[in-house]
Amino acid sequence: MAEFIPVGAFDIVIFGGTGDLSQRKLLPALYHRWIDGQIAEGSNIIGVSRTALTDAEFVTFAFDACCAATDGKLNQAAWKKFAKCLSYVTMDATDTKADWGGLKAALVKDAKRPCIFYLAVTPKIYVPICEALGQTGLAEGNARIVLEKPIGTDLQSARAINAGVGAVFAEDCIYRIDHYLGKETVQNLLVLRFANSLFEPLWNQSAVDHIQITVAEHYGVGDRAGYYDGSGALRDMVQNHILQLLCLIMMEPPNSIDGDAIRTEKIKVLQALRPITAENVAEDTVRAQYVAGNVEGETVAGYLDELGHESGTETFVAIKAAVDNWRWAQVPIYLRTGKRMKARHSEIVVRFRPTPHAMFGAQDAQSNRLVINVQPDEGVQLYLQIKEPGPGGLRIKSLPLNLSYQDNFTVRYPDAYERLLMDVVRGNLSLFMRREEVEAAWEWVDGLIAAWAAADVPMRTYQAGVEDGPIEAKVMTRVDDCDWWEAG
Ligand code: BG6
Repeated sequence: MAEFIPVGAFDIVIFGGTGDLSQRKLLPALYHRWIDGQIAEGSNIIGVSRTALTDAEFVTFAFDACCAATDGKLNQAAWKKFAKCLSYVTMDATDTKADWGGLKAALVKDAKRPCIFYLAVTPKIYVPICEALGQTGLAEGNARIVLEKPIGTDLQSARAINAGVGAVFAEDCIYRIDHYLGKETVQNLLVLRFANSLFEPLWNQSAVDHIQITVAEHYGVGDRAGYYDGSGALRDMVQNHILQLLCLIMMEPPNSIDGDAIRTEKIKVLQALRPITAENVAEDTVRAQYVAGNVEGETVAGYLDELGHESGTETFVAIKAAVDNWRWAQVPIYLRTGKRMKARHSEIVVRFRPTPHAMFGAQDAQSNRLVINVQPDEGVQLYLQIKEPGPGGLRIKSLPLNLSYQDNFTVRYPDAYERLLMDVVRGNLSLFMRREEVEAAWEWVDGLIAAWAAADVPMRTYQAGVEDGPIEAKVMTRVDDCDWWEAG
């Protein structure tokens, strides 16, 4: 039975309180935790931004946000009580000379009470806001800071942010969010690997042939084109979400589920990622942009048409990566992500080696696979070879043992932000990234970007709505005889 364990009363200040993240994710996440009785009465949710709003206007903003997030099925009685937690302060939080009195007055003066500062703003102002919090005395007591991705745009800028934030907040008060870590199926990776004795003996280069991680999206860049064009698929998705999935799949068993035990193991994986250089980048990566096509029955424009100008930014990337350590030597890890693909689906596929002797001939060439569906249709499938019943000779078929979340659980899956926000209140750092993780991931990504430039790797194209992205990504895996797993 799902049970919500209430957290003690807290204050949360959302810088960027009227922004997109606050509207789409944070306020609805807090509302959902409230209606489940997890948030204590007396907690304060304070929106802060330069947009001049009254408390009542912020409550209306939050109401609209929560209505949209619940398809209009807002619980009116619960909302009335929840709305009492909400207030708003108009201010420029980067300005130490501004009047911070309004914000201070909205916070409960109790050194033990968690006071969470959530930076739902552009990363450019993370450091100025932290400095202002330090100078105004707000970074004291039980203060915690939450940083959204992207933490920088490269290693240098990430280091500058980490140093600036770290000058004000101790590392164990810094919560670097990667919302993929809050997804139910991503948390399940730990349980699947370390609560089942079945997999661990096989989880290494002697039994695993290769691993694939796919995060495909059917939507385009939409109104985020400005941000996205300065980022691209590699920085937007691989540097964080995909490398985090890779870490959870490839790390050594931690001693415990303690935040630092897990994070220490993840860092080792990132540090063991083989650098991609000008020598191998053309063979081991593909970058591409979508051109006009058809997605879910609708004709959609190409990336450059949406942008209205030329661009060298990739909307798709495929990478053959390697983790150079004892466990994973010689095991290719294929990563891919793209916008405007056929459907939204994220999955991890672990393909095991074929049997050492093909007793049944060519037909048993299909080897076992573990497919972990991260989203949608969350679940796990273990493909086994079985004998197809009936006459006509011995025929072998690959069929899954199918563990579907939907068939087994009726609870609503909380949005990733619900879990992550409650973990910040509880002080549980397991699902947040440590400074070295972010920096190690950037170091690898920066090397890859430099290699693209040095080797002048061409930008490929793919039609919006195709299943696999550009043909070159198929060719890349074919070379190793490892086709991308076709979902569904
Ligand atoms: C964000 C990226 O971090 O993750 C977006 O900036 C992407 O470009 C999104 O669409 C994907 O998240 P989810 O939870 O929808 O898979």
